[in-house]
Amino acid sequence: MKEKIEQILAEVKTFKAENKDALEQFRIAYLSKKGALTELFTEFKQVAPEMRKEMGMRLNELKNTIQTIVDEQQKQFETTGESKTDLDLTLPVDAMSGARHPLSVVREEINDIFRRLGFVIADGPEIEDDYHVFTALNFPLDHPARDMQDTFFISKNPNENKPTDVLLRTHTSSVQVRAMEANKMPIRIIAPGRVFRNEAISARAHCIFHQIEGLYIDKNVSFADLKQTLYHFVQEYFGEGTKVRFRPSYFPFTETSAEMDISCNICGGEGCNICKHTGWVEIMGCGICDPNILKASNIDPEEYTGFAFGMGVERIAMLKYQINDLRMFFENDLRFLKQFENA
Ligand code: PHE
Repeated sequence: MKEKIEQILAEVKTFKAENKDALEQFRIAYLSKKGALTELFTEFKQVAPEMRKEMGMRLNELKNTIQTIVDEQQKQFETTGESKTDLDLTLPVDAMSGARHPLSVVREEINDIFRRLGFVIADGPEIEDDYHVFTALNFPLDHPARDMQDTFFISKNPNENKPTDVLLRTHTSSVQVRAMEANKMPIRIIAPGRVFRNEAISARAHCIFHQIEGLYIDKNVSFADLKQTLYHFVQEYFGEGTKVRFRPSYFPFTETSAEMDISCNICGGEGCNICKHTGWVEIMGCGICDPNILKASNIDPEEYTGFAFGMGVERIAMLKYQINDLRMFFENDLRFLKQFENA
């Protein structure tokens, strides 16, 4: 057996594949189920007990050597393969055909408005831990949002130590926490992203949707700044003269909290079925950052204050384009998508 191993080792060491096929043949000859190594591993079962340790080590070494040879030569084919392509990689992207998805269009338009105000785009993972989605945002341990009914869990910690549970984020507010942890003042971020909730799919709800989160923390930030920023956004996005109103609300991580409505852009406030004849439609939640969440990320609430807001991209798109069924965004029906070709 020892000789066989040595012999194979000598064979493979000088191997140099001329092309991808030759490399694949080589891999099959040695590493596949019917390959030389499988044979050796079968033989190994008969090796005398006092020789097992040594033979086992040699055999594993041989296997690793062959695997490394295959991996390294593979890499080389991947890179040289690319430069051999006859695609013209220098063609300008404008040559691309097709249309952007309405949600991308709306997201970019919203991002642009806030970019012009000095907000920068921030990002965070979709697969999050409980700490960033709930605990750091002041959600009590028994808050219903932490329930299986609302949240998709990936793994739950058996000893009930919730902050380490792994889950799909239910809101982009988790990016607030990540931005605060980075602790570079002032913070002025906008965080667009996908969120997930365990909801039945209907015309008004989906288990996947998109949010845009905003966070501004600096010295002397007040509710007046929040109102003015969002008022500006609404004028830019829905047109000058659109009215806004703030209603008191509750979120665990903001104090004061509010919900913001705009005058219905469909009927102009007269009353229609989109605004349920009230003349107003709700577009986002917002508020002043609770001092507790600043503290949790080591920001001194005596020195800094901030505001946050979060809106649903689908909701804004539905209002802007008068779409009455949220499922349209996910079905990719070309008759629907084509209407946004020039957006
Ligand atoms: N995260 C909240 C939600 O998903 C919205 C929100 C964001 C509220 C920021 C206040 C501040 O409902």
